[in-house]
Amino acid sequence: MIKFDYRNIRAEVIGEENGLSIENEFEEYKERISQIITDLYSNKDERDAGKKWMNLGYDEDTLWYINEFAAEVKDKYENMVILGIGGSSLGGKAISHALLNPFWNSLSTEQRNGFPRVFFIDNIDPDRINGLLDILDLKKTLINVVTKSGDTAEIMAVYMIIKDKMKKECDDNYRESIVVTTDRNVGILRQLASQEGYKAFEVPDDVGGRFSVFSSVGLLPFAILGFDLKELLRGVRDADAQAQYTDIYKNIAAQYALIHYLMDIKKGKKQTVMMPYSNRLKYFPDWFCQLWAESLGKEYDFYGNKINAGLTPIKAVGVTDQHSMLQLFNEGPNDKVIDFVRVEEFDTVANIPDIFQYTGLSYLSGKSLNELLNAEADSTMASLTDYQKPNVTISIPKINEYYLGVLFHTFMVQTAITGALYNIDTFNQPGVEQVKNYTYALMGRVGYEESARMLKEKTQSMEWSEN
Ligand code: PA5
Repeated sequence: MIKFDYRNIRAEVIGEENGLSIENEFEEYKERISQIITDLYSNKDERDAGKKWMNLGYDEDTLWYINEFAAEVKDKYENMVILGIGGSSLGGKAISHALLNPFWNSLSTEQRNGFPRVFFIDNIDPDRINGLLDILDLKKTLINVVTKSGDTAEIMAVYMIIKDKMKKECDDNYRESIVVTTDRNVGILRQLASQEGYKAFEVPDDVGGRFSVFSSVGLLPFAILGFDLKELLRGVRDADAQAQYTDIYKNIAAQYALIHYLMDIKKGKKQTVMMPYSNRLKYFPDWFCQLWAESLGKEYDFYGNKINAGLTPIKAVGVTDQHSMLQLFNEGPNDKVIDFVRVEEFDTVANIPDIFQYTGLSYLSGKSLNELLNAEADSTMASLTDYQKPNVTISIPKINEYYLGVLFHTFMVQTAITGALYNIDTFNQPGVEQVKNYTYALMGRVGYEESARMLKEKTQSMEWSEN
């Protein structure tokens, strides 16, 4: 399983001002944590509670349906494009990047064993979309349109561009090459799927975007890329079993949640840096940022008090950001907790040849990049600790389907526990919905006329400085 080390948040290690007396805190909060976990599990199936992601490790029917489709399309497509944004993209992108060869899209079809190249499209920059269309042969491309609401303007706009081009280039067969992942009932995409006859997969009820990676949202692309879904979901189930321990001493998700919460309310550390020491986990912080920001950034608590809660997540990756962000982490304001993610065993070893024994490089000769990376992670941790900057380490044995299932599920549970500690609704995102609605209004969607009038006034009265 995964391990969690919180030695470097102890007052004994980084001092009273910045550190916690962790044993005392665990004792003080153990009843509350136990209650939070009991509540989390006891009402997870309630309608509109937003917690049905907790059941995704057990959905055998979806697994079967997805595997069947993946087998049908195997060897059929050179490319797969995932159109999705936020929760409809970030988890899929993070896990795909972790499991695929780092230069996957540059491999030949044989080297990819017939599995397609993959492109996650989560932005609407016209140059990027046109650039993508320049390189894709649409006759050999599968498009997966992913949007839970079935409405999101960015995704629907890009879908319209691609569909139009596909129709022209592939005649009526284009319908076979578009699959959608969306809500079972609502949304324009669901209607279009029925009208056009696209194969459709469901985002289950009460599973919010950022908690949906183990639904069809992630599982469909993973199956088409040849990942072992059984192992992935076995990891999710094992993490689920672990997360049900009501005893804080046995529950990593609860420990992580409590530490970050206390670091905020007692020590003023309102930022969380997520820094994996693995390039394959480079997009894990992107997924974490959305999970943490949308779940914990809330104006009001459950009792209607205005609290403006939130722990600002910051992305970093080791070793790259040692040469960029680390100066700030070490010497800048002491307002962050730095979370390292370490991988115990890489799939390969990159040996540094023993070629410069008698030069200033002899300390590298005969070693490996694996040793260097570990030394760099140890050095960063030690130096942050010297500067009395709180830091924790999550360690996974290897990067594979099983441990990614454990890691991602554990993080979703810890987010739910953290939200409960703040007494906020972890599963809504009114701030995101507001901007979606404003965009509909500004683009002239029917029903948003009043909002459009108000917004035009606001945007027209901007005060520009000009050079
Ligand atoms: O987590 C969330 O709910 C959001 O970030 C959504 O995933 C994002 O806005 C995309 O929404 P949709 O899947 O409806 O297109």
